[in-house]
Amino acid sequence: MGQQSHISYLPEALLPWYAANRRELPWRQDKDPYHIWVSEIMLQQTRVEAVKGYYARFLDALPTVSALAECDDELLHKLWEGLGYYSRVRNLKKAARQVMERYNGRFPTEYAHILALPGIGEYTAGAICSIAFDQSTPAVDGNVLRVISRVTDDPTPIDLPAYKKSVQRKLAAIYPKQAGDFTQALMELGATVCGPNRQPDCENCPCKDFCLGYQNKTANHLPVKSSKKQRKTDQYTVFILSCDGRFALQKRPDKGLLAGLWQFPNTPGKLDTHAALKQVEKFGLKPREIILQVERKHIFTHIEWDMCGVYVNVSACEGDFVWLTEEELRSQAALPTAFRLFLPEDKLNF
Ligand code: ADE
Repeated sequence: MGQQSHISYLPEALLPWYAANRRELPWRQDKDPYHIWVSEIMLQQTRVEAVKGYYARFLDALPTVSALAECDDELLHKLWEGLGYYSRVRNLKKAARQVMERYNGRFPTEYAHILALPGIGEYTAGAICSIAFDQSTPAVDGNVLRVISRVTDDPTPIDLPAYKKSVQRKLAAIYPKQAGDFTQALMELGATVCGPNRQPDCENCPCKDFCLGYQNKTANHLPVKSSKKQRKTDQYTVFILSCDGRFALQKRPDKGLLAGLWQFPNTPGKLDTHAALKQVEKFGLKPREIILQVERKHIFTHIEWDMCGVYVNVSACEGDFVWLTEEELRSQAALPTAFRLFLPEDKLNF
């Protein structure tokens, strides 16, 4: 039996399984392309549980494409705060503007038009067209690649672009009429029974009768991935500067990592206490006391930040900073997780 024929059993096995086992998720309540689009962008690199709250808040604040197109950037960043990969939300807004201008605010229904919008790649275009419009457009992400490599017992590294292309082609050829349910069923199987970082639960899998990875006992060893590039580590000293219940914040540059978001002042390298106090003076401030020093790490896709946080009380709210109260800092400024790590759960009182 060729690999194509194993894949061709998927709709028949997955559609009834999905109908009986699907998780009720907020973005599965309707087929509005705007809702599907926002959810799929949020779900890239982010766990379902983490996305639920963000999704509800985002659509409450911005219920339509037109509201998103006109949204102020500060609010937009705040709605995304903590989700990471902030270029995703900037592209959402750019794309919303294009939908307003080119399509009069009506979300396009053609795959090629959707794919041409900023921030929308083949995966997202495939997900929107299949889930919202029942088109035969596979949405192939890591979950789906894992399922297919197991079902076909294929040791080709799944991160090879040619592998993804071939999976897209093979799946497109066997898409059923209920395209949206099939896309989600594949995602659901990959997120649960045939999940990542653990042994697949083959005994409870609707595909076990035809899964070659199960039959050949190779499923545990699949998928294969090419060796990963080492992540580079950068070191920083981060200053949490306080005076009269206010904290010094500054905007990050408009380009590059975390562009346009807020940050605590920081300098490259890890400074010792003496050098840290000198740096506070260079900021144009008079340090009174170092209260605390802590170590924190934050991992981005390609880079890791190894940070030393220095909490310093200073004598006046001056220098080239915006001085916010803790309440303003928590409720208004979009402070990315890398810096939020320096905010304790309870009050910052020094
Ligand atoms: N991961 C990516 N897209 C998803 C979706 N629509 N539902 C659940 N998990 C997903």
